[in-house]
Amino acid sequence: MLRIGVLVSGRGSNLQAILDACRGGRLDAQVVLVASNREGVPALVRAARAGVPHRTFTPIAYGSRIAAQRDMGRALATAGCGLVVLAGFDHVLGDTFWDALGDVPVINIHPALLPAFGGRGMMGLKVHEAVLAAGATETGVTVHRARRGTVDEGEVVLQRRVPVLPGDDAATLSDRVLAVEHEALVEAIAALSASKAV
Ligand code: GRF
Repeated sequence: MLRIGVLVSGRGSNLQAILDACRGGRLDAQVVLVASNREGVPALVRAARAGVPHRTFTPIAYGSRIAAQRDMGRALATAGCGLVVLAGFDHVLGDTFWDALGDVPVINIHPALLPAFGGRGMMGLKVHEAVLAAGATETGVTVHRARRGTVDEGEVVLQRRVPVLPGDDAATLSDRVLAVEHEALVEAIAALSASKAV
């Protein structure tokens, strides 16, 4: 059974989708650690409710982001993760994380059709505002392998398209994309697992 570590910073709805898929049998997998860079976020409550191990690695508690991420990488490796999922993790991961984690594959989910509307600072509603400002008629979801030293780059695992509808604002578009994110993330994990890529 695939052992998954999930990195979170906030709401945790994608984490919830993974937890639900594991519990419901859609994924032959188990979340073995939820790691957050922020205290007291809803994602940690979701992990606690699901009875899943969860820890916070805040830069303040560790004295630096570098030290916090080193310990986070070690904890994920020690938990025996076969896959790490960035599900709304809002810090760039530095070398200490990658070195500590070793060769465990890492994937990220982004609420747009990368390479469009990605990169540093492109998070949350900002992504959808940029899509609307560009007058795009469609957007979507990308699940991709995360690559050391980059943001929103790496081999695409799966993309799903979502139409931009007349009258959409960033909030309505975000809601429609988020529903697709939850499906796409579970599908991507299942596909990686089936292909023995993780
Ligand atoms: C999602 O839109 C995800 O694509 C992006 O951050 C958001 C996290 O949402 N990377 P949630 O915390 O999973 O609800």
